[in-house]
Amino acid sequence: MQQVYIWDFPTRIFHWLLVIAICSQYLTAELLDDAMTWHFYGGYFILGLLIFRVLWGVFGAYYARFSQFVVSPRKVWNYARLFNSSAYQPVVGHNPLGAYSVLFIMTILFTQAISGLFITDDIFHDGPYYSVLSEETRQIMNWVHHQGFIAVWLFLALHISAMLVYKFAKHQNLVKSMITGYKKQDPETSAINAKNHWFKFIAFACMAAFIVYLVVVVFAPEVVEDFYY
Ligand code: HEM
Ligand code: HEM
Repeated sequence: MQQVYIWDFPTRIFHWLLVIAICSQYLTAELLDDAMTWHFYGGYFILGLLIFRVLWGVFGAYYARFSQFVVSPRKVWNYARLFNSSAYQPVVGHNPLGAYSVLFIMTILFTQAISGLFITDDIFHDGPYYSVLSEETRQIMNWVHHQGFIAVWLFLALHISAMLVYKFAKHQNLVKSMITGYKKQDPETSAINAKNHWFKFIAFACMAAFIVYLVVVVFAPEVVEDFYY
């Protein structure tokens, strides 16, 4: 067995920051009092992470690219069919099923982050685009934002179950790989050592932060305060 560096630093830091930020979103919305301002900041941060991951998925490191891991539904079916047979072949990067779960959670989180921009906590905090929608559309956004988190729970349950299945049924420690970046590979399998691409990493992180700044600050409508005396 040889150790191959498959998860570059930007992909790993994206993943673990996302995990921390999602926990913080739950805490600041559901458990802590007076934490809505932090919930907004956390939501903008997640939006930035997602924009970064899309850029990284197109121009980033080898195994992080969508073109490397998103395969046709037929390949997903074949992978699932052979999973329990002797013909099972381990995959170096994301497996075909995992690839679709990545697309699923990214779509859900984009929906959460975007719907959040249009809603209010009915007390002091309005999302930056709250004023542009009609009352009906606000209610739809509110419904989407509140229900969307159920999909996050569902993903998390499947995600952790998948890690356990790989650990105990296939003896693959995926979590360790997502922490260190290294995965054990049969020398027979052709695997590429990923690169961190530091310059692109910094450039895309700045670009993602700038896009969030444009969305949240520059393009957001001015808030008109209504005071009633
Ligand atoms: C991916 C990012 C986000 C996640 C995972 C998230 C998650 C949540 C959760 C779990 C709740 C509680 C829902 C419930 O009680 O059923 C919530 C409520 C809320 N979120 Fe987010 N949120 C995100 C982004 C945002 C953003 C960007 C904003 C605004 C800029 C925002 C504004 C709000 C507001 C105003 C509420 C309503 C609180 C209330 O009903 O009192 N969220 N969010
Ligand atoms: C709400 C929490 C979580 C979210 C939103 C999440 C999301 C994701 C995403 C988007 C990826 C794809 C990474 C990429 O290509 O950029 C991924 C992969 C991964 N996640 Fe998570 N994750 C969460 C929690 C966890 C936890 C708690 C663990 C560990 C116990 C974990 C372990 C992993 C591993 C090992 C992979 C790589 C899977 C593979 O080898 O294909 N995740 N996760």
